[in-house]
Amino acid sequence: MTAQVHAHTPNGLTIWLTGLSGAGKSTLAALLTDRLREQGQAVEWLDGDELRRSLGRGLGFSREDRFENIRRAVYIAGLLNRHGVITVVSVISPYADMRSYARQELPGFVEVYVDCPLPVCEVRDVKGLYAKARTGEIPCFTGISDPYEAPADPELKLHTAERTPEQCMEKLISWLTEHRLYQL
Ligand code: ADX
Repeated sequence: MTAQVHAHTPNGLTIWLTGLSGAGKSTLAALLTDRLREQGQAVEWLDGDELRRSLGRGLGFSREDRFENIRRAVYIAGLLNRHGVITVVSVISPYADMRSYARQELPGFVEVYVDCPLPVCEVRDVKGLYAKARTGEIPCFTGISDPYEAPADPELKLHTAERTPEQCMEKLISWLTEHRLYQL
């Protein structure tokens, strides 16, 4: 069955996943991308770690560098959207103004707050970075020694500590369908 991005969003759609490192953004993005692809939808996934490896070499984690990272993600998402490609972006994007910028630039912008309490992310410590952030080996680490401004009014908030990644993905798909941004 072929899926369609609804006519309300002729310029495609960007599903912007923001949240702490280890909150589950990439896991959710992978599930979502697979699901949309299975349904015949053109979809691309831009992930923070991968973006930084490919286009963001040399960028660090100062406010300016993070903003530049986001600016590049927004630029690519815009190009993809123009061709009707749903773009899933998973980046910490810790500052409210960088997310406002993304919203302003991208006509079909859906902000999803992947909400997971810091202590849970820290216990998970999937990449071992929180431990290094606590000792100071990694400076300016989001949530530890650098800010994370939680979204005040996201389109959707998903609690990954209380729900499985599959449940979160289903909730997101339901939300998109209910808001007529996506239909089978
Ligand atoms: S963002 O702030 O510019 O949006 P982005 O999502 O691209 O961040 O990259 C975050 C990833 O970089 C984290 O998941 C983690 O693997 C790694 N990382 C390395 N150093 C830091 C740091 N100081 N703060 C946050 N993440 C870091």
